[in-house]
Amino acid sequence: SQANIGVIGMAVMGSNLARNLASREGNTVAIYNRSAEKTRAVAAEFPDAGFVASETIEDFAASLQKPRTAIIMVQAGRATDAVINQLVEVFEPGDIIVDGGNALFTDTIRREKAVRETGINFVGAGISGGEEGALLGPSIMPGGSASAWETLGPILRSIAAVVDGRPCVTHVGTDGAGHFVKMIHNGIEYADMQLIAEAYDLIRRGTGKSPAEIADIFAEWNTGELESYLIEITAEVLRQTDAATGAPLVDVILDQAGAKGTGAWTVQTALDLGIPVSGIAEAVFARSLSSKPAQRAAASALPGPDGDFTVADVDAFVEDVRLALYASKIIAYSQGFDAIVAGAEEYNWDIKKGDIAAIWRGGCIIRAQFLNRITDAYAENPGLVALVTAPYFTDAVAGAQSAWRRVVIAAAQAGIPSPAFSSSLAYYDGLRADRLPAALVQGQRDFFGAHTYKRVDRDGTFHTLWSGDRSEIQAVDTH
Ligand code: 6PG
Repeated sequence: SQANIGVIGMAVMGSNLARNLASREGNTVAIYNRSAEKTRAVAAEFPDAGFVASETIEDFAASLQKPRTAIIMVQAGRATDAVINQLVEVFEPGDIIVDGGNALFTDTIRREKAVRETGINFVGAGISGGEEGALLGPSIMPGGSASAWETLGPILRSIAAVVDGRPCVTHVGTDGAGHFVKMIHNGIEYADMQLIAEAYDLIRRGTGKSPAEIADIFAEWNTGELESYLIEITAEVLRQTDAATGAPLVDVILDQAGAKGTGAWTVQTALDLGIPVSGIAEAVFARSLSSKPAQRAAASALPGPDGDFTVADVDAFVEDVRLALYASKIIAYSQGFDAIVAGAEEYNWDIKKGDIAAIWRGGCIIRAQFLNRITDAYAENPGLVALVTAPYFTDAVAGAQSAWRRVVIAAAQAGIPSPAFSSSLAYYDGLRADRLPAALVQGQRDFFGAHTYKRVDRDGTFHTLWSGDRSEIQAVDTH
């Protein structure tokens, strides 16, 4: 047994992670893949990595020092369960199985419980950063037990991205906490991407600028408070010319966005937790809407402005859009962290919000300087009830909100869909409202279902005898 860490699954993410591990001082990496051909190919392609390659799961287990530690990098779902079952047969109590895939956190909770009964540790670890991150340094969000983290921590710290001397990995919490937080990361990723896409669309239609010119705007934005990986790659995508047609690539890509499901999971989970992640939800729905060609074709003749409009002052409009994007982004993160707080409460995880923001600063898809502000906000006030109410973010939104409103108005008037911008603004106004029409909803519920209501001026639960003399009675609270 020569290897201190093993990787199972030699598709790109797995082989890149194995190469990353092998490149760090002191690591010898065992590799295994369901088809041995693949294992051989990876070992042959990267001789310098010094992989200890096995063709059977028994040999793989035998090649690992104890406690054995193996990271599974296979497709989330059935393949993951199959590998776990294999490993449980050949591993011993005290060994550690890490699932580095995009597993649904409830699957991770289930797997952790089942594996724990064998005495083996199971750690669900969210890994973000795509292929390049896996190779050069991802952001890693491990769950699982504190004792597994003791063994795993140094290994994961050695391969994670580093920002300001701090590796982008922390023990998020027990069982499914890591995959939960990775799921929220992806939800925020969806919102970020949709907001950027809406900003591009508005600028293009309002100013007539070319994608390459808009690329310059994004590159410029990337030097300020919006600095982030997603803004950076947006500029690159917009600047790309299609070799076949000479047109901007963005104009020849079919406008139907795909999704592998993690955004939808975030929204489904948030609905269960009762957390309004409206920005993320709109981003998921915007992808769904884009991918309905039959409906879009049938609706294309519906009346309304055609989306073309001309802004009077181009620079002022571009700045308005930047501010609207910034404000909406703050809302998306605020909602994402609300979901983390609610998930932590529901599942009994001790999640340090500031640490999560800190490990998202590097390696992952939503990496950005901006995340420092979130860490600071929770450091200043660990009991912060909504990120947007932290002084820094309140100031930022105060400076942006007029521009935000102008942009949403312009979009609505021109007939340009801006679901993420406008829903974020609606959320913001809902949150800060003194009084909401929820009072009327309560009245309606009481009318048709005797669902009762509370009063602003007295304790207790009340019901109006709507079908009787319409007097009010004290009632049993039915919510
Ligand atoms: C990451 C990404 C990664 C993957 C998404 C893409 O953090 O590295 O989020 O997990 O790229 O699953 O998701 P969609 O295919 O759903 O856009």
